Amino acid sequence: MNALLRRLEEYRMSEEALRWEGTFADYLELVARNPSVAQFAHARIYNMIISHGVEEVNGVRRYRFFDQELFGLERALERLVEEYLHPAARRLDVRKRILLLMGPVGGGKSTLVAMLKRGLEAYSRTPEGAVYAIRGCPMHEEPLHLVPRELRPEVEKELGVVIEGDLCPHCRLMVREEYGGRIEEVPVQRVLLSEADRVGIGTFSPSDPKSQDIADLTGSIDFATIGEYGSESDPRAYRFDGELNKANRGLMEFQEMLKLDEKFLWHLLSLSQEGNFKAGRFALISADELVIAHTNESEYRAFIANKKNEALQSRIIVMPIPYNLKVSDEVRIYEKLVRQADTGHVHIAPHALYAAAVFSVLSRLKESKRAGIDLVKKLRLYDGAEVEGFKPADVEELRREFEGVEGMSGVDPRYVINRISSAIIQKGENSAKACITALDVLRSLKDGLDQHPSITPQERERLLSLIAVARQEYDEIAKREVQKAFIYSYEESARNLLNNYLDNVEAYCNNHQIRDPLTDELRDPDERLMRSIEEQIGVSDNAKKAFREEIMIRLSTYARRGLTFDYTSHERLREAIEKKLFADLKDVVRITTTTRTPDADQQRRMDEVVDRLIQEHGYCASCANELLRYVGSLLSR
Ligand SMILES: Nc1ncnc2c1ncn2[C@@H]1O[C@H](COP(=O)(O)OP(=O)(O)OP(=O)(O)O)[C@@H](O)[C@H]1O
Ligand SMILES: [Mg+2]
Ligand SMILES: [Zn+2]
Ligand SMILES: [Zn+2]
Repeated sequence: MNALLRRLEEYRMSEEALRWEGTFADYLELVARNPSVAQFAHARIYNMIISHGVEEVNGVRRYRFFDQELFGLERALERLVEEYLHPAARRLDVRKRILLLMGPVGGGKSTLVAMLKRGLEAYSRTPEGAVYAIRGCPMHEEPLHLVPRELRPEVEKELGVVIEGDLCPHCRLMVREEYGGRIEEVPVQRVLLSEADRVGIGTFSPSDPKSQDIADLTGSIDFATIGEYGSESDPRAYRFDGELNKANRGLMEFQEMLKLDEKFLWHLLSLSQEGNFKAGRFALISADELVIAHTNESEYRAFIANKKNEALQSRIIVMPIPYNLKVSDEVRIYEKLVRQADTGHVHIAPHALYAAAVFSVLSRLKESKRAGIDLVKKLRLYDGAEVEGFKPADVEELRREFEGVEGMSGVDPRYVINRISSAIIQKGENSAKACITALDVLRSLKDGLDQHPSITPQERERLLSLIAVARQEYDEIAKREVQKAFIYSYEESARNLLNNYLDNVEAYCNNHQIRDPLTDELRDPDERLMRSIEEQIGVSDNAKKAFREEIMIRLSTYARRGLTFDYTSHERLREAIEKKLFADLKDVVRITTTTRTPDADQQRRMDEVVDRLIQEHGYCASCANELLRYVGSLLSR
């Protein structure tokens, strides 16, 4: 408790330390020392993102800022930052356009905007992201607006900044009435951007289009004071408290923008063209903010189909935000969502989320016209796995084949998480220590399709068949997992088999004999052993020589570079070794896992395997036993 109180105290003090108040003259000194305090909203947002760090992975930039919450959207985010925010930060023309995120439902658009808001709030609390404003300005405007037009070129040169925009009506009046034009005395303060306080961050979400009031965007007449000031054009009789006012210096999220009335959109249009908007009976009001809207594809298509929207359209920059297409990232999305939901005591078995992810990513992929590739191979390639016969350049080509289309439709992460939740609830009610397996999840996804009202019969068929594919993928993993757990020391067995194979291959390729380690006799290379491994991956008798030579070349490359060659160093050889080990073991596993009355030895073995699954692979007793039974039934087919 004391620790908590101390933390509260510390927090209060750190907020206190951020306070700064002075005159405009003081502010000018501050700007002279650090011109970045006068940066524009777009630059502040861009710099905020960059300040978290940038990495480059396989030629794609990764902004660490997005890493914690958005997965698999690297390409889309790179475009967003490099094609919009970066040029906007350098004051290029794009900054005058509205940024419209376009993508399928549940694809992370709102999450992205929320991250930018939270990021900006935090950034404004750092020295690099500090924001200063005229005290009392309802729009917390940039104090440099106080500099009269005639003096600006001089001031800009002196301070190394750019001044844009004019005083708001409120401040204009204040400077005249209260300071008699002595702008250097006007009070300035540091402001912390905060959505909750309506400082620099706004959200506009349309209500009923008929009753929608433009005042929500641009403020309104203050009926409490209009009597006093007598005129609607007196700024004291106007409340500059629309979202566009409040979001000045930061960003405004425009939800469901395309559902709005045209009249509304025209206001935005002027903002997006000149950085000004019209409010009440005032001259244009300057605003420095990123307007970021989001929409789905069908709404967007309807919007551009309407000729009347042409002018607005040219003032919008559309950024596609497609679904994630990498299985491993999809799993991370579900992990995040499961963590957020209160799943309490329920155990999620290994590969349960993976199986769901395979299904949803498959649903988003398009069938390539290229020969020799199916959806599952594509799924693997997109996830960065090696697939026989494909190079990284092929993956790029596959991506280009459906550029802008792939990822814009398919299963939405929300659907999957709803189905997982429903499986959890069902199981959770029936047992004290519930556990959700991959099979539970796939079943629940399937049941959900029956209840889904908006799905066509063809789409339903397609999705059902993809669930079956995901199931096959899971079956393979399940078999491997059990077989590996059966081999006491899997790595060691694989290593022994590999070394044995390599000794023989080496002798074969060099036309040598091989010394038997037990009897010390010289003998010919063991053709049966080598073939029993090679046959696992379909190396024919004619191809065996080439295969063996390839292995020897790989081996010597490794040796030259000082690397150790192990059974994972050659993808096909790894597969062959694994299959060979499993083939030798298959009967043991099948018999042990399916027998109804295991003998003492079998029972001991099963217990060991269950134990290993629990200790090393994240199973609980319930899903480990279920896995053994399931794999037993698969192997008996
Ligand atoms: N690529 C992703 N990485 C991380 N989380 C994601 C991703 N895509 C979706 N999500 C998660 O899925 C949920 C739905 O996403 P969000 O609400 O951001 O989507 P949206 O595009 O705004 O959807 P809508 O069009 O329905 O408004 C959120 O909980 C979000 O965190
Ligand atoms: Mg949304
Ligand atoms: Zn002002
Ligand atoms: Zn479990």
